[in-house]
Amino acid sequence: MLFFLLTFGNLAGVKAPGQAECWVCHDRPALAIQDARGQRLSLYVDVARFRESVHGQQPCTACHTNFPTDPAQAAQVVRGKRWPQQEFLARLSPRNQVAMLACMRCHEAEAAEYRASVHGEAVKAGNPDAPICIDCHGHHFIPKVSSPESQVRDLNVPATCAKCHQNALVMAKYDVRTEIVESFAASFHGEKLALGSARAADCTSCHGVHNIHAPDDPRSTVFPANRPATCGQCHRGAEESFAAGFTHTVPTRQVEALVYWIGVLYTWFIFVTIGGMGLYILLDVARRVANWLEK
Ligand code: HEC
Ligand code: HEC
Ligand code: HEC
Ligand code: HEC
Ligand code: HEC
Ligand code: HEC
Ligand code: HEC
Repeated sequence: MLFFLLTFGNLAGVKAPGQAECWVCHDRPALAIQDARGQRLSLYVDVARFRESVHGQQPCTACHTNFPTDPAQAAQVVRGKRWPQQEFLARLSPRNQVAMLACMRCHEAEAAEYRASVHGEAVKAGNPDAPICIDCHGHHFIPKVSSPESQVRDLNVPATCAKCHQNALVMAKYDVRTEIVESFAASFHGEKLALGSARAADCTSCHGVHNIHAPDDPRSTVFPANRPATCGQCHRGAEESFAAGFTHTVPTRQVEALVYWIGVLYTWFIFVTIGGMGLYILLDVARRVANWLEK
């Protein structure tokens, strides 16, 4: 076994301590088990990608704390074993509890904010749809926040939130509207962001990151009294009336009817103007061709 370990460790060129003894087995793409629902769960960890991640220098046991470093023992994985738990995680599945404890151990500041947020409180209440750290960040291949590949980089934030907030089936349970993402994409901010602007607002510019609260909670950055300061980060001297100007409401004939009808009129205006111009050019070309043929 020792020989096996040494050869494999060297072949992989692994230098960081506490990884080689796990890769002996987990570097094999075929390694898999069946999860609790009987579905295939791959136990393969891509060495190269892991090494490039922000945690690439950490030993595997930095997160998998209950795994003994002795490979012979490590193979005897005890699933569903109870970890020393923090009370607010008690209603998560054992697997998610392990994941949360791992992240919280080293990122205390983010964890403390998250725990008090609408998402953290939902986890405490046993809500199975609320995001835990790995839903937004991933687990083994977390890139730097500033990397284009990061799921939480400004440009990619709307898609990360949309995974849940555009899911009508999930959101109906909590009475949260789903036109959020659509209305954001159609706003000045969404359009600017889609064009790649670094200055444009993404969801977290207004709502915060780990400290997100419901808009009617006084702790929320978009609670009416806090809005001028929130908008003021980018719109200098934003007044209360300006700050009230953004909502996620998509105008319809019933809600915000005036805005809706102005939108309809505008669309028709563009249609008639551009259509008229196209028609004019077409008729002009036809006339010239006819003139040329007559000659
Ligand atoms: C000798 C081969 C071997 C070594 C060495 C090994 N593992 Fe595993 N590991 C396995 C096998 C086989 C399973 C599936 C066991 C089962 O059926 O539950 C597994 C399962 C796991 C799981 C999945 C647990 C679950 O059910 O969700 C994790 C996490 C894990 N190993 C981490 C590690 C870590 C960390 C190390 C190094 C400290 C390590 N392993 C070393 C063979 C190995
Ligand atoms: C930054 C923390 C972290 C590090 C470091 C880490 N893991 Fe994991 N690992 C996790 C989390 C969190 C999960 C559970 C993911 C879930 O519940 O979906 C996990 C799950 C696993 C699984 C189960 C299959 C899967 O991908 O869900 C295996 C096997 C595993 N890890 C092996 C390893 C090995 C081997 C290393 C070292 C090369 C390692 N891990 C390093 C956090 C980590
Ligand atoms: C053993 C301590 C440790 C654990 C456990 C750990 N991290 Fe980290 N994490 C770090 C360190 C150290 C860095 C900084 C790496 C760097 O800056 O190069 C980091 C960086 C990060 C970053 C990138 C920050 C940036 O500036 O771009 C994210 C995101 C992150 N960790 C999330 C997680 C998540 C999610 C988990 C749980 C799956 C986790 N971490 C578990 C120590 C840890
Ligand atoms: C709802 C999605 C979401 C959840 C859940 C979440 N994060 Fe984050 N996290 C983000 C976003 C977005 C950023 C990027 C912030 C930025 O651009 O500065 C971030 C940034 C980070 C960073 C980089 C440093 C920083 O604060 O900017 C770390 C470390 C981190 N998160 C750890 C965690 C941990 C640990 C948890 C669980 C307790 C967690 N995150 C839960 C979305 C999330
Ligand atoms: C894994 C799914 C998931 C992800 C990802 C997610 N959320 Fe949520 N979010 C929820 C659930 C579920 C609730 C409802 C919690 C409750 O009311 O108990 C919620 C509640 C909220 C609320 C409060 C709504 C209200 O009026 O009560 C806001 C604001 C929010 N999320 C913003 C965000 C933002 C911004 C992001 C991205 C950075 C995000 N969420 C990512 C699942 C998610
Ligand atoms: C992260 C920075 C940021 C935040 C926070 C932010 N905005 Fe903006 N906003 C922008 C940028 C950038 C533009 C595009 C300006 C341009 O094209 O000149 C914009 C454009 C607008 C416009 C279009 C008219 C104009 O002035 O160009 C309105 C209205 C607006 N924002 C309202 C708000 C409101 C209300 C809030 C707070 C609830 C807010 N914004 C928060 C960055 C931000
Ligand atoms: C310019 C600032 C701004 C941006 C950007 C923004 N929001 Fe909001 N958000 C608000 C304000 C203000 C409210 C409260 C008024 C309302 O509900 O329309 C709100 C309300 C919400 C709610 C609660 C809705 C409900 O029915 O309870 C959720 C969830 C939400 N936003 C998620 C998001 C997500 C996801 C994104 C990105 C796709 C995003 N927000 C982008 C300012 C913003």
